[in-house]
Amino acid sequence: MATQAGDQAEKPLILVVDDENGPRESLKIILSPNYRVVTAEDGISALTIFKRQNPELVISDVRMPGMSGISLLRKIKAIDPEATVILITGYASIQTAQEALRADAFDYINKPYDVKEIQAVVTKALTRVRERHNQHRLLHQLQAWNRDLQEQIGQLDQKATVADLSAELIHDLNNPMTVLQGYISLLEDSLDSNGPEGSSNQMEEFMGIVKTQVERCVALTRNFLDFARQASGKWEKSNVNELIQDTMFVLRVRMMKQSVECSFQPDPDIPDSWFMPTAMQQSLYNLVANAIDAVCDRPDKGAIRIATRIIEHETKKQSAAEFIQIIIEDNGAGIPEDKLKQIFTPFFTTKEKGKGTGLGLSICQRVAEEHQGELLVHSQSGKGTCFTLNFPLLLEAPER
Ligand SMILES: Nc1ncnc2c1ncn2[C@@H]1O[C@H](COP(=O)(O)OP(=O)(O)OP(=O)(O)O)[C@@H](O)[C@H]1O
Ligand SMILES: [Mg+2]
Repeated sequence: MATQAGDQAEKPLILVVDDENGPRESLKIILSPNYRVVTAEDGISALTIFKRQNPELVISDVRMPGMSGISLLRKIKAIDPEATVILITGYASIQTAQEALRADAFDYINKPYDVKEIQAVVTKALTRVRERHNQHRLLHQLQAWNRDLQEQIGQLDQKATVADLSAELIHDLNNPMTVLQGYISLLEDSLDSNGPEGSSNQMEEFMGIVKTQVERCVALTRNFLDFARQASGKWEKSNVNELIQDTMFVLRVRMMKQSVECSFQPDPDIPDSWFMPTAMQQSLYNLVANAIDAVCDRPDKGAIRIATRIIEHETKKQSAAEFIQIIIEDNGAGIPEDKLKQIFTPFFTTKEKGKGTGLGLSICQRVAEEHQGELLVHSQSGKGTCFTLNFPLLLEAPER
């Protein structure tokens, strides 16, 4: 019994509509061995059954009192444009056939029909219904896979960003760590030559520097965590000239050791402005560190000139306004023209393995962009390089 009920449920459902009892019942008898059949004697009740039972196929007589088979077909198509309907006409009229096909009937059969003909048309119609169902199922499956894939791609993008950020973080941490190393070795030298009670002023100074650098490491890791939370660096009102002086100070030992002369011509009238001081200092550090590397191979003294000023300026993204301009110029080896295009590309470096990561300038460029600014370069091979950082002077906190 259970199997029979199961079989019954799996059979396609066909709705037969005819106002005349004879043809309606005979169709039911022909189709019943293979299909479940429900019948209706007019268009109105056919529509009710169609909505309630959603048959896979509708076979309807064309000529019926009240709603004609063509009208019923149109109404069914309005409910479900994919519905499959076969029309049966009592008289072979080209006009009816055309009308039926125009209203998107699957096929039409002329009365009197023979059993084989009707069975063949029904089989063909139901095959198409099955194919459509399969196509829909496949489409849904594909859409689900597509959604999954998009989600996975999104996750991959996120992972790539975290990987990029990690590389930047390690790079950024590398700079203060190098400074710490330098001062720790100076502290050791100082302890060796003076003993623990020796030059306590110098000890205090060196310890102060070590402390500042540790604070910078902490600030960098905090920045990284902010990034991971999708927040950019912290905006503060700060002074660019002071920031440059701090940067020169932390690079002092390195410049001393490489006999590099560094001059600074600040514009004293630059007011405190809104920017991201930690990110900006990181950029300045990268640019000056690059300049030191560029000049240290010179046979005579390498020189770096830093200057600041206010300019009236505009960029593609920022309309005319007052900008802070920072110039960092060196008389080092310069950058050959074919390399100039590549220097901002992450991981591009001409430095020996283990010395440069090639991330410095890409970070500087990103920081400039985050400030609605720009980082420009001008270089002449053998003569030197000049980096110019322009970003808007903001007296009020930016809206974000
Ligand atoms: N002032 C400069 N003079 C000459 N070449 C420079 C200068 N600044 C950058 N470059 C060139 O641009 C390349 C990329 O610089 P970037 O700061 O991005 O990486 P890096 O200095 O090689 O490595 P890192 O900054 O990670 O130590 C350098 O390797 C160098 O060839
Ligand atoms: Mg660098």
